[in-house]
Amino acid sequence: MSIKLHHVLKRVHALPPLPDSAIQVIDLTKNPATSVKELETVISKDPALTAGILRQANSAYYGYARRISSLQEAIVLLGFQVTQELAMSAAISPILRAQLLGYRIDQEELWKHSVLTAMAAKRVCQHCKLPYGDVAFTAGLLHDIGKLVISIYVQEVGDFLLKKAKDTSRSFVELEEKVIGFDHARVGGFLARAWNLPDELVAAISFHHSLSNAQNYEVLSSVVHVANGLSSLLGIVGGVDSLYNPIRQKALDLLRLEESDLELLKEDLKKILLDPTIFS
Ligand SMILES: [Fe+2]
Ligand SMILES: [Fe+2]
Repeated sequence: MSIKLHHVLKRVHALPPLPDSAIQVIDLTKNPATSVKELETVISKDPALTAGILRQANSAYYGYARRISSLQEAIVLLGFQVTQELAMSAAISPILRAQLLGYRIDQEELWKHSVLTAMAAKRVCQHCKLPYGDVAFTAGLLHDIGKLVISIYVQEVGDFLLKKAKDTSRSFVELEEKVIGFDHARVGGFLARAWNLPDELVAAISFHHSLSNAQNYEVLSSVVHVANGLSSLLGIVGGVDSLYNPIRQKALDLLRLEESDLELLKEDLKKILLDPTIFS
């Protein structure tokens, strides 16, 4: 069934773009010279983004005791990194709340998996003392966007892929590449590029299952890989493929994570999961 690249790219460009304001927020929050006013001006031009940020800023996950009622307050109290997380979550939420038949994903499933993977990626960075907190969160949030593009192809060969994944030692993602010609990670990278996301995000999305191709971004890609695996182990799967894409030892070695670290991370994430509003 090998699919031609131009068919895939046509589908990539047919998807709704990420709002400009969200891309600008990434650029502005990365720049230490940015002022609160500048950030506020960009976000406030997008009412949906503003509403999304304020709603999530008041969720229990961010743990702020008193109500945050203005954008300026949110930026000052929560900081640039969290503002970026909130902006990206608000921007991508309607895009990820999609039913994807190829992966047997219902309306909310990919969204929930992406949110937990984002939180897990940030937590892995804290645990491993890596300086990628903000980018890891956003990479975790976006890691499976390629599924939006190739689910339609997976739908045609899904039963075959599942059977092969069960009967052989190959992962589902390897089989996607072999049978369809592209896997969801690589295609996610095409989409990230089309959305003008920065290189480190494009790389972490593209290589979250094929770490050896990640070159300079191997550590960040491994963080997303492990975070994705942790979400799946906790039952917040991102499709029927999730259990057939296990955590690779290579990623654990690179991050110097032992089985006991994974257990600790899982316990932390279970606590986050006690609050259902994280998925609102
Ligand atoms: Fe994935
Ligand atoms: Fe995933």
